[in-house]
Amino acid sequence: MIDPKTLAERFPGDFLFGVATAAFQIEGASKADGRKPSIWDAFSNMPGRVFGRHNGDVACDHYNRLEEDLDLIKEMGVEGYRFSIAWPRIIPEGVGRINEPGLDFYDRLVDGCKARGIKTFATLYHWDLPLSLMGDGGWTARSTAYAFQRYAKVVMARLGDRLDAVATFNEPWCSVWLSHLYGVHAPGERNMQAALHAMHHTNLAHGLAVEAIRHVAPTVPVGLVLNAHAVVAGSDSAEDKAAAQRAFDFHNGAFFDPVFKGQYPQSLLSALGEQMPAVEEGDLAIISQKLDWWGLNYYTPMRVADDPAEGAEFPATVPAPFVNPEKTDIGWEIYPSAMGDLVADLYRRYDLPPMYITENGACYNMDLVDGAVDDQPRLDYYAEHLAVAADLIRDGYPLKGYFAWSLMDNFEWAEGYRMRFGLVHVDYDTQQRTIKKSGQWYRDLALQFPRGNHKSA
Ligand code: FCB
Repeated sequence: MIDPKTLAERFPGDFLFGVATAAFQIEGASKADGRKPSIWDAFSNMPGRVFGRHNGDVACDHYNRLEEDLDLIKEMGVEGYRFSIAWPRIIPEGVGRINEPGLDFYDRLVDGCKARGIKTFATLYHWDLPLSLMGDGGWTARSTAYAFQRYAKVVMARLGDRLDAVATFNEPWCSVWLSHLYGVHAPGERNMQAALHAMHHTNLAHGLAVEAIRHVAPTVPVGLVLNAHAVVAGSDSAEDKAAAQRAFDFHNGAFFDPVFKGQYPQSLLSALGEQMPAVEEGDLAIISQKLDWWGLNYYTPMRVADDPAEGAEFPATVPAPFVNPEKTDIGWEIYPSAMGDLVADLYRRYDLPPMYITENGACYNMDLVDGAVDDQPRLDYYAEHLAVAADLIRDGYPLKGYFAWSLMDNFEWAEGYRMRFGLVHVDYDTQQRTIKKSGQWYRDLALQFPRGNHKSA
């Protein structure tokens, strides 16, 4: 077992260790204090969408257990907490009326973190779009981008004086492709044209929100959290290598290129441009404003091969087999070095600001035995990926911090509560929290920070 204190020595003294969650996955209290439904409430109430028809009505009941959960975060020894803000609590219909009790909740959350010496990393959009906005087409409508800008302004006017960082979006890949092309996440659409509209309007919403945040709370570092895919060609053949480049353009370039280069990938425009909404003059300038930081969410590589089928839709790839047969309980291949290669590749391709790893972690579903959870494989996963993170710092990449996904077991989207990612176990019948073996290990590591004179090496 890697000793946490030895591993700690590989990180600079001001490196930030944190834990992450998202509103819909933990809060519950879905009808409390003026909250209205989000697309995830509707989606999870529809038969056949979420495992076991689980929903977010109660989740980890975090909304009602805020203080004890903040104590738990403190107990985890971390310096940072990454959480998301629920748009349907703040502006329940997406536009129009502002709901003060919703803002009050996040006021208490932020103050509670500050009182405990924990830094606040807020995400404005972690997939819970107010359901009312679906009446206009949700993310396929340009108007949603402007509604998001206003929401960002409202949140930052209230919380901006106490946030240590803010991200506009969590994983646009999921809220665009997974939600509008593959149909796995809310709203469950399976249509390229809809997906391309969601892509551009999400990118635009990001840019409009950056503008609003800088206007209302100019001192808060603004970023974007991307689940960049570590795309690997299934073989050395020219076909598979070309497939990997197309997959990169589609899965990463659709977001990285407009944000960090001010343009869409040429291959994507040639193949799908006709199905895209109008990119209006000035859109790309809004989208590509310089960011203070970006966040990487990494779990597993994406292995692809060329799809030989005639007329296959761009990017025309099929999955290639795993190289490492070892996978976590959700079926994702374990391959830590792909995270390092990905970061190197991205800094080669783009002019990127400093970064955080905003999510990394593993699904293992072992339960409580005699009051304890022995989740050694999760601990190993963390140790191996943190070793890669330390290598990145050694090699000079501007990696400033790492957030474990997740603080506690929670609603794992289409998988419901059956897939567990927590450092802390949640008994959903009693809402009892129990720190797992991996959680104790992570705490021992996190407690070493900040260290020394707080200056980076
Ligand atoms: C990421 C999501 C997060 C969680 C993890 C396992 O894609 O951002 O909410 O579900 O996967």
